[in-house]
This record gives sequence, C-alpha cells and structure tokens, in this order.
Amino acid sequence: MSQPDGQNNELSNLLNESRTFPPSAEFAAQANATADLYARADADRDAFWAEQAEKLHWETKWDQVLDWSGAPFAKWFVGGKLNVAYNCVDRHVEAGNGDRVAIHWEGEPGDSRTITYAELQREVSRTANALAALGIGAGDRVAIYLPMLPEAVFAMLACARLGAMHSVVFGGFSSEALRTRINDAEAKVVITADGQYRRGKAMPLKANVDAAVAETPSIEHVVVVKRTGGEVAWDDARDKWWDDVLEGQPDTHTPEAFDAEQPLFILYTSGTTGRPKGILHTSGGYLTQAAYTHSNVFDLKPESDVYWCTADIGWVTGHTYIVYGPLANGATQVIYEGTPNSPHEGRHWEVVQKYGVTIYYTAPTTIRTFMKWGADIPAKYDLSSLRLLGSVGEPINPEAWIWYRKNIGGDRTPIVDTWWQTETGAIMISPLPGATATKPGSAQRPLPGISAKVVNEAGEEVPNGGGGLLVLDKPWPSMLRGIWGDDARYRETYWSKFADLGYYFAGDGAKYDDDGDIWLLGRVDDVMNVSGHRISTTEVESALVSHPNVAEAAVVGASDPTTGQGIVAFVILRGGVDDAASGEAALKELREHVSSEIGPIAKPRQIMIVPELPKTRSGKIMRRLLRDVAENREVGDVTTLADSSVMDLISKGLKTGSD
Ligand code: WTA
Repeated sequence: MSQPDGQNNELSNLLNESRTFPPSAEFAAQANATADLYARADADRDAFWAEQAEKLHWETKWDQVLDWSGAPFAKWFVGGKLNVAYNCVDRHVEAGNGDRVAIHWEGEPGDSRTITYAELQREVSRTANALAALGIGAGDRVAIYLPMLPEAVFAMLACARLGAMHSVVFGGFSSEALRTRINDAEAKVVITADGQYRRGKAMPLKANVDAAVAETPSIEHVVVVKRTGGEVAWDDARDKWWDDVLEGQPDTHTPEAFDAEQPLFILYTSGTTGRPKGILHTSGGYLTQAAYTHSNVFDLKPESDVYWCTADIGWVTGHTYIVYGPLANGATQVIYEGTPNSPHEGRHWEVVQKYGVTIYYTAPTTIRTFMKWGADIPAKYDLSSLRLLGSVGEPINPEAWIWYRKNIGGDRTPIVDTWWQTETGAIMISPLPGATATKPGSAQRPLPGISAKVVNEAGEEVPNGGGGLLVLDKPWPSMLRGIWGDDARYRETYWSKFADLGYYFAGDGAKYDDDGDIWLLGRVDDVMNVSGHRISTTEVESALVSHPNVAEAAVVGASDPTTGQGIVAFVILRGGVDDAASGEAALKELREHVSSEIGPIAKPRQIMIVPELPKTRSGKIMRRLLRDVAENREVGDVTTLADSSVMDLISKGLKTGSD
C-alpha cells in the first residue's frame, strides 16, 4: 500500500488506480460483517434474507420469503405483519434503551436538541394521534415539505405507525414541483414549516405551499411547524400550527401491525421524461434491507457509535440512512439542519468533534467542496472519534477518495463507496468495511444477498476488464414495488430493456476491473447527476420552453470539477423577440425561471443562445455534440446530422450567460 505524497503523484495515480486499503486487523476483528457472509448468502438466498428479517419484530411471521410469481412486482415476507414505527422506536424502549439518545439535532443557527428513544416514542405517538385526528388512516398519503427538523422524522414515523404513506418533497423544490407531487399522490395533508434556515438566512417556506395548494384539490389541511418565526399568510380553514394540532394529544399510541407489503412511502425521482416518477416502497422487505445494510456496511455498534449521514431527508438517502435504517438498529445519530459552510467552512468538523461522531456518510460533491476549501480547515478539529467513512450519490474520483481518507479519516478509517438508487431502496454494491480491501473509486461487489452484473447490450455478462450496463439480475427485499399509479411505466423503464432475461436495468454504465470489481461510470440515459441529485434533461428543457421567449431548448450535463455534472442549456429564442432577450439580464431571467419551475438545484450553470440545434434526419437532438461544445472540446462526428453546417453556426454565434 503506497501513499501519495504530493499533488502530482495523486494525479498520476488517477490514470491507473491500483492501490488497495485492507482494513486494520483491529477493525476486522470487531466488524459486524465477515467475509463468510457472501458464501452463506449464496448457499441459500431465501434463508439468508429470512435470517435478516428475523432481527425485526414481527407481529405475525411470514409464510413465504419471496413471491416472484407476479414479476416484476415482488412480494417479500408474504403473510408477515409488522409495524415499521414500532420497530424503529418502541422496541428499543421496551428493551430498556429508552434513555439512549436517538437524535442529536443541531440547528443551523447553533440551537440544538437531544432526543432519547423514550422521547422519540412520545413524540411519534403524539404526532400519530394528531394525524389520526385530522383524518389520516392506513393507505392515505401525507406530503412532507420540511427542512431538516426533528419534526420531519416524527412525521414520517407517525405515518408509518398509522399505515399511511409519506411523500417527502425536498425543501429546495419549487411550489410547482410540490404541486405536481401532491396531485400525483392525491395527498390529504401537507406538513411544512413557516420558513427554513439556509446559509445563515431565514427563508420562507410556507409561501411555496400556499402557492402549491391553490391547485391541489386533495389537500384538506396544511400543518405548519414554527421554525424561523417569519411572517406567513394564513387560511383559517386550512392551516394549522403543528403545536396546536399536537396540543393535548396523548403521548401513547398503540401501533397496529400491517401487512409486510403495506405501502410505506412514495418518493419522486427524475426519469428520462419530464414527469417525475413516484417510486413506491413497502414495509417488511424495505425495513429488513435498510437495517441489514446499515448494520453491516456501516458496522454500527448501537451502544457506542455516533452516526451521521449528511443527506437531506428529502432524498432516499435521508429516508433509508437517517430514518429507517439507523432507527431500526437503535443507533444514536446526528441530524444537522444547515449547509456545511454556515456559519463557517469547518462546521461539519465542529459537529463531529462536539458529538464524537464515529461514522460519517456524505456525497462526493461535498468531499470535493471540502477539498476546495482546503485541508487546513478539518485539521483544526479533533476528528479522532471517526472510525468509518461512507460515500454515496455519484462515482467518487480516486483523488477525492484519497483526500477523504487522509484528511478526514486520519489515514486510518475504511471508506465504503455505496452504490444504490431511490428505486433499490437500500445499498446494493459496497465494500464490507471489515472484510474488503477497498479500492479508491470502486464500489466493488454486490453485498451478500444481492446480485448484480455488468452486461453488454445483448444482456451477456462482460469479462473482467470489460464495460457495459449495470443490471440487477435477482429481486431484492427493498426493491421498488412500482411507480405510483403507472404500472406500464414501471415495466417499460426498468424491465423492458432485458425483458427476456428478467433483469432490472439500473440506467448506469459500469465496468469490471481485472479483479472483477465493479466501477460505476455514470448514467447512460438522459438523467444528469448534479451534486448527487438526479435531474432529467427533459425536465429542464420543458421548464425552459415554458418561458415565453423560448422556442426550443436542449440541455446536457457537462462534467464539472465540483458538482460532478453541471447543467448547460442551448436555447433558441422565439422569432420576433427583440435583441434584449439574449442580453445578460434576459439570460439571468431564464435561469431564474428554471429555478422557480423546478427548484434552485435545476438552475442551469450556463445558457447559450443558438440559432439552431443539431438534429439527426429523424429529428433527434444530438446531445453528444452539444456536450462537446459545453465541455470545450473539438466537436465530434457530425455526419449523421440533417444539416452538418449547424455546428459551425452554433460555435460561431454563441451568446452565453452564467453565474
Ligand atoms: C448514482 C441515491 C456511482 C447512480 C442513493 C445511480 C452512484 C443514481 C453511487 C441514483 C455510487 C449513486 N457510485 N454512482 N456510489 N451512488 N450513484 O436515486 O447513477 O438519488 O443510478 O439515489 O446515483 O441516485 P438516487
């Protein structure tokens, strides 16, 4: 194992990454997961998953582990009954761990709150009673549009307790995005806050809900958590303060056991078309894999670890690795409300030091941002409590991996690079930290009990050293159970590409290295990955053409040193709009327009006004060529263009606007 000592050395290593980092003997000796798990799972998958499910509390045991007869619609733990919230909260209290801290919550302005499992049980019970009093019961949908507050966790678990489904919408999404999600799920209640802290400022949030619910016929109540104390508009018939609806509600609630396949949540994610997909997850299988992966990939010791996942609850990582996995395992965790640079660029390390965080899970884009801010910042803090680091959301470049290990992990901690998706529900490909010699940049192997392959277009597995598409060739417990309200789209999106083989197509390119380890290479469809967030090119294009000045738009993800990809838009203006429409101010307006249609995360990094778009004879836009322009490369092969002079026109006539 060689250590890079300088920048040049690190860069040359990127070209041929061959370093491996075995766990220390000490780490390996105490690890939850040992290498024999792979063989045990291979020998009898059903028995392996049954063993994992038995770690949960079931009111009624299942009769069958997996029913795949209705493929691609799976049923796991058929006939079993459980309550997800009971498993995440009550059973820890009943086991005598009520005094254990469940959540160390840290607010952006510096306020904090510590919540034990006994308190969590009372809060979740009160919230469940309050939601029931508002008419929420099993099968109903509740939209949650909240910042990173403990109430978000209470609300999610209260839904689970009642057998209702939550649909969490990221607080950075626009009112328009919230409206379409509420309407698609026909949610009855939306839970929000008056405002949220972002980079030291109190920003309004309820105003977005007001705009959204003006056109959501299904919404009966808006419940508002008071966070910033900012002014809010109020509709007496519809709006209720969180504190008022909880007032007087008993802090006990008897959980009912629901079927293993009771829907637990819908979470919307971008697909290749403009309309987001409502990914549906259910209870028993989801919780089993959430708890199993959280325990084995993060090596959680509930009595001594302090775990911190920096994701927002609005994404699947927040669902599985802040709420369900850690709480099912009785973990003590940190939840942080704000951005990593509020009020200073050492905030995360200050929090690690304050709570003695032992396990830290974040995204490559955040790590690259820390690299930009400089290694001297984490060096000012005591990070010696850390014993394991994780990464998720996009491929992590070896340089960032090495920086992370060296500057955050003290050259000591294993790093788990975890590949998974909203659809997979939980981690699928990752090292086991006590058993795998890790490799910077590779997620390596499917977890025990999981099967994945890299195949060519014909579905044949490629040899070591070869590249192709990632597929999941066997069902897994936390797999999505469909797209809300659209079975046809579910089959078409994930199961049609390799229909004869019955493979799930993940949408990611991948390769095997000479050791057979898997390297993820990014999306192969029209989905961009910006700071680990999935955004579809079509979604941004539709937002752009909804502006009166825009005739046509094409959007590409161009590689970006910090965010992975950045959004670059090529726009044709409508005939007749005057020259001012292509001026700096007008381009800024277009960027703002996308932000208000979708959310600030979808704001294009750069917009270029062009006279034409490169199209094939059949009218398909050739994004490959636009990507060449966006990444300042020589434009590639133009022979299939209907009019090959278009690219000259584009390169000559560019007017661009960016931040
Ligand atoms: C990408 C986030 C490489 C991938 C949990 C996937 C990754 C998409 C990794 C899912 C990783 C996630 N290495 N790529 N470790 N983790 N991805 O649904 O393209 O927000 O398809 O789920 O992120 O994004 P999603």
